[in-house]
Amino acid sequence: MVILDAKGRGKNQRIQSGTMLQTLTWTGDAVRMIDQTKLPARTEYVDITDEKQMWDAIKRLVVRGAPAIGVAAAFGAYLGIRTFSGEPQTMLLRLSEVCDYLATSRPTAVNLFWALKRIQAVALAQLESEDFTAKQIQKCLLDECLKMLAEDQEICRSIGRHGAELLRSVGSKPSHNILTHCNAGSLAAITYGTALSPVYVGIEQGMRFHVFADETRPLLQGSRITAYELKHNNVPVTVLCDNMAASLMSEGKIDAVLVGADRIAANGDVANKIGTLGVAIVAKHFNVPFFVVAPTSTIDLATASGKEIPIEHRDSVEVSHPFGTQSTPDGIEIFNPAFDVTPAALVTAIVTEHGVAKAPYTENLFAIMSNPQAGK
Ligand code: MRU
Repeated sequence: MVILDAKGRGKNQRIQSGTMLQTLTWTGDAVRMIDQTKLPARTEYVDITDEKQMWDAIKRLVVRGAPAIGVAAAFGAYLGIRTFSGEPQTMLLRLSEVCDYLATSRPTAVNLFWALKRIQAVALAQLESEDFTAKQIQKCLLDECLKMLAEDQEICRSIGRHGAELLRSVGSKPSHNILTHCNAGSLAAITYGTALSPVYVGIEQGMRFHVFADETRPLLQGSRITAYELKHNNVPVTVLCDNMAASLMSEGKIDAVLVGADRIAANGDVANKIGTLGVAIVAKHFNVPFFVVAPTSTIDLATASGKEIPIEHRDSVEVSHPFGTQSTPDGIEIFNPAFDVTPAALVTAIVTEHGVAKAPYTENLFAIMSNPQAGK
């Protein structure tokens, strides 16, 4: 694995101030990603060249956020078979093993499984092709990964357009105060992101925003990553500890909450970063609209309700020794789920690239998934 610092970016990497950060790029030989574990102190890039490195990067949150995890996993699958030179049938078996392996990296974000299925479907479709060779399948998989990379930008911009329109209907102030939890911005996708896309697109359209970012214990994706990318993009941001959001909402300072999602069940229940549920309950209490912003690849119609969503529990050290400093006595039991489930009843609307779904979610999410044009 090659580690590059900001100065050591390769010739394919161009980041200029005022442009969006690129979470993940393809160098022609490796997947280059910002190492998000190092933010905000250091902007370092890692080059991932095989599936084991990709598994580790996803597990350790070098790359994180549901859409970014999906694209990273797809590339991981390609990296796992790119040097295979045997029979194509044997390569399909190898691909299936690599996908099963990558699927064990994190359990909650459905985009991971969605992306691995999509990659396998592309490989299987080659069975019908006249040019059914290992090389041909490898080429098709790389093309599909690059397509997913490009698609992400289009999808997130479309989400942003729908979200900005929705926000115009919330209050009549010249500037919107938005509360967000965790990071569902450009660094959780490829560019633009989901929950922050309405802010970025809204600004392009002349709207004004101030974003309040929950710090997001225990791994501080809000203060480390959301604040970092908003500052990079010149968007005014205030960081607050998670336990301060209720106070802010009680003072009437928040116009809307925007959060992302790791998985949305068929009934509209939403799994997102731990602490989202608390924000949703407080928002309901103070009559603040609570919007979930996500691509349709995050909607899992095969999962009936939030009760069925697998919730990742992470190492207790993240809570007992945050960032290397001991904060609880030795031997204390720790509770560390990475996600919680917000019931659909607390969700004002779900914004997707195909439009906005409101309750009843069971009907309206199904409609948006079966006829994407309907929501446009
Ligand atoms: O553990 P993380 O950092 O991967 O959690 C990320 C979140 O919970 C995001 O809100 C979610 O993935 C949506 S990202 C567009």
